[in-house]
Amino acid sequence: MTSTTIAVIGATGKTGRRVADLLEERGRDVRRLSRGTTPAFDWDRPEAWRQALDGIDRLYAAYVPDLATPEAAAAITRLTEIAGDAGVRHIVLLSGRGEDGARRSEDIVLASGIPATVVRASWFMQNFTEGMLRDSVLTGVLAVPAGGMREPFIDIDDIAEVAVEALTGTGHEGRVHEVTGPQSLTFTEVAALLSEIHGREVQYVPVSFDEFHAAVAATEGPEVATMLTELCREVFDGRNESPTSGVLEALGRPPRDARTVLTEAARVGAWAA
Ligand SMILES: NC(=O)c1ccc[n+]([C@@H]2O[C@H](COP(=O)([O-])OP(=O)(O)OC[C@H]3O[C@@H](n4cnc5c(N)ncnc54)[C@H](OP(=O)(O)O)[C@@H]3O)[C@@H](O)[C@H]2O)c1
Repeated sequence: MTSTTIAVIGATGKTGRRVADLLEERGRDVRRLSRGTTPAFDWDRPEAWRQALDGIDRLYAAYVPDLATPEAAAAITRLTEIAGDAGVRHIVLLSGRGEDGARRSEDIVLASGIPATVVRASWFMQNFTEGMLRDSVLTGVLAVPAGGMREPFIDIDDIAEVAVEALTGTGHEGRVHEVTGPQSLTFTEVAALLSEIHGREVQYVPVSFDEFHAAVAATEGPEVATMLTELCREVFDGRNESPTSGVLEALGRPPRDARTVLTEAARVGAWAA
């Protein structure tokens, strides 16, 4: 019998958890994969990937730390080869908007011979509620090297829904869904919105790339600092400022806006101790 199991790589993460939950809500058989699952999937242990993908029909992949890193293209190449051997019939790859490095991995999956879809997303709204900027909201200072740039922050529930549609619907093979939220906001505007919704002042402090690098290096180490700084340098040059119609085109409904998403996150205790 043909397998109908859908594997989710990064299933304990922000997008993967939502993709897996949504697939199960819709009655799909899901294999959640991360370093702690059985079978396990570790991006640093390709020798175990074949076993993790055995009997899988379709695959969602969120690469960590980021597709823009130099190691990503080789890992994605290897993944497509092993997925092909395992008989995987569709890959959905999460990518970052405006990242030249990520384009290499996008091209690799799209040319792999396995039907593939790229979900190319803007900055997540949930960076402020469960991601790398949650602590900054709690301390009241968003120190980001974004200057006065605008970003059309996206709700990752929308990303998950687009990914699930790509995995289970028709007509998504070979397509890139470039998805963003409905409106572009400056970090000053986001800080004002966060202050209002959180009920405590949150300030945007535009820092230089060097200042940002030093601050991240102090807590996350120099490698992560360099990766994030280069990413910021790339995506905050104006290329990503305009919203797209990607969510509307994929789902037939507009994306959720920042006020709605952040209000709901606050209601369920995103910034509770
Ligand atoms: N943040 C943004 O604004 C943004 C925007 C666009 C695109 N993206 C892309 O989003 C992707 C990250 O997705 P996400 O935010 O859903 O993930 P995430 O929340 O960062 O979670 C990472 C997931 O990967 C797993 N993981 C960590 N290290 C791993 C390893 N060495 N091998 C295998 N699994 C590992 C984690 O589980 P365990 O620790 O349990 O293994 C977890 O399930 C990145 O490729 C990034 O470029 C992010």
